[in-house]
Amino acid sequence: MQTELSSLNLAEIETELLAVLAVDTQTSKDRNAKPELALLTADAAVKAAAAAVLSSGEFKGGVNETVLLHAPAGLKARRLLIVGLGKQAKATVNSVRSAAGTAVRFGKPRGIRELAFALPELASLPLAGSVRAALEGALVGDFDPDTYRSDRKDQSVKSFTVAPPAGADRAALEAGFAEGVMIGESQNFTRALVNEPGNKLTPTILGQRAALMAAEVGLGWEVHSTEKLHELKMGAFWSVSQGSEEPPALIVLRYEPEGVTDGPILGLVGKGITFDSGGVSIKPADKMDQMKTDMSGAAAMLGAMRAIALLKPRVRVIAVICAAENMPDGKAQKPGDVQTAMSGKTIEIINTDAEGRLVLADGLTYAKQLGATHLIDAATLTGACVVALGTINAGAFANDDAIYEKFAAALNTSGEKFWRLPLGEEYAELIKSDIGDIKNTGGRWGGACTAAEFLKVFVEDTPWIHLDIAGLAWLEETKPYIAKGPSGVAVRSILEWVRSY
Ligand code: BES
Ligand code: MN
Ligand code: ZN
Repeated sequence: MQTELSSLNLAEIETELLAVLAVDTQTSKDRNAKPELALLTADAAVKAAAAAVLSSGEFKGGVNETVLLHAPAGLKARRLLIVGLGKQAKATVNSVRSAAGTAVRFGKPRGIRELAFALPELASLPLAGSVRAALEGALVGDFDPDTYRSDRKDQSVKSFTVAPPAGADRAALEAGFAEGVMIGESQNFTRALVNEPGNKLTPTILGQRAALMAAEVGLGWEVHSTEKLHELKMGAFWSVSQGSEEPPALIVLRYEPEGVTDGPILGLVGKGITFDSGGVSIKPADKMDQMKTDMSGAAAMLGAMRAIALLKPRVRVIAVICAAENMPDGKAQKPGDVQTAMSGKTIEIINTDAEGRLVLADGLTYAKQLGATHLIDAATLTGACVVALGTINAGAFANDDAIYEKFAAALNTSGEKFWRLPLGEEYAELIKSDIGDIKNTGGRWGGACTAAEFLKVFVEDTPWIHLDIAGLAWLEETKPYIAKGPSGVAVRSILEWVRSY
């Protein structure tokens, strides 16, 4: 997608489709009160073109609601699309992101390959944030997951132009514009990885893709396999991998900005199970195909690292990705086995399907050994988290309030929804083992919390955030602004959290 910041008045922009935003300014709580629509532009020609449909009552200005006008009088654009932002009081920069995505996804199936998007003029929507969000939304909206269809038609939007209000400070907008492109493309990088099926994205291939990306954006990288796992005594990580014909990949990416030699080192750890059959504790066939997405945490970290390399925050970051395939086999680990993790802790395997925490255990230990002072991990870790929070919020855990506060602040910018869940000694009790130090499941209840408590054993006192994205990594339904399939969740939040250091 070509992206551009226009310097023309809206009426002068020659394009297949010009999108403008509208809010409902009605403040009455009366359910029968009619919407009072306001177009978020001062452009007289656009206002005139939209006046009749806005007063007709057929468009309510609801969130991501659209109405299309052809051959709008007084405009060079061939079509005018009005996108609703909902109630004015609730409209945020995050609504602008969805609205831009909605405009792109409106155009795609209609053969529209060229779009212009009018940045909203509203005091509560800062322009720099809006331009960034618009680019993110447009790029994310443009992504469709049908990569392996032999009759695939390329419906992607070729050109996306953002039109700032007359008199806006362009220099201030340019930074937000560039950021939006880098972030949107990085989120799509993550989504493309998650979309790949297990046979096309083995741990080895994930390692290759990571290395290629790292070389492109100038990150340091290493990709290791079986030998290194043994050398580092990563008994927990290896126990998952041992039942697969596919060798594991231990991927390390380094972002070391020039001149930064002290301060924190942020460690990003990702669960990269390229396919989770459950192992010997095999999963039911129903929906097992979805377990190709079990590397979404790893993919989120890779996307975040890509964005970090491009946006260049002044803080050192390392990523440790633990990629493996979880398969049943004669050589696979068995329930009852005892494994020794890299940290020296012994783990009784109760269920081989609780494999994510095993690979993360050694990934977290290794990130600390590499110097990480603060840790964040992302994983499609538990079905229990999906039961608790549905597909609306992802789960977040932290062993330190200060680190969580920074993450919560990042959510305001990213617009992503995470809900903090508890850790605690009572949960830790549930994973004590009779034969060894801990067991890899804590029973049926509180499964997301006992999984987090398991990870905490390896994190120890290092400030740490754990993101359980099982419910949000894959969208079951298409939304107006994003296709169903891989969401790229957590990329933007992790990036903003990193930038806050
Ligand atoms: N990858 C799954 C978790 C998952 C479930 C991700 C649904 C996405 C959607 C994980 O490895 C797993 O199997 N967890 C088990 C743990 C249990 C055996 C303690 C689970 O949640 O059932
Ligand atoms: Mn599993
Ligand atoms: Zn899994």
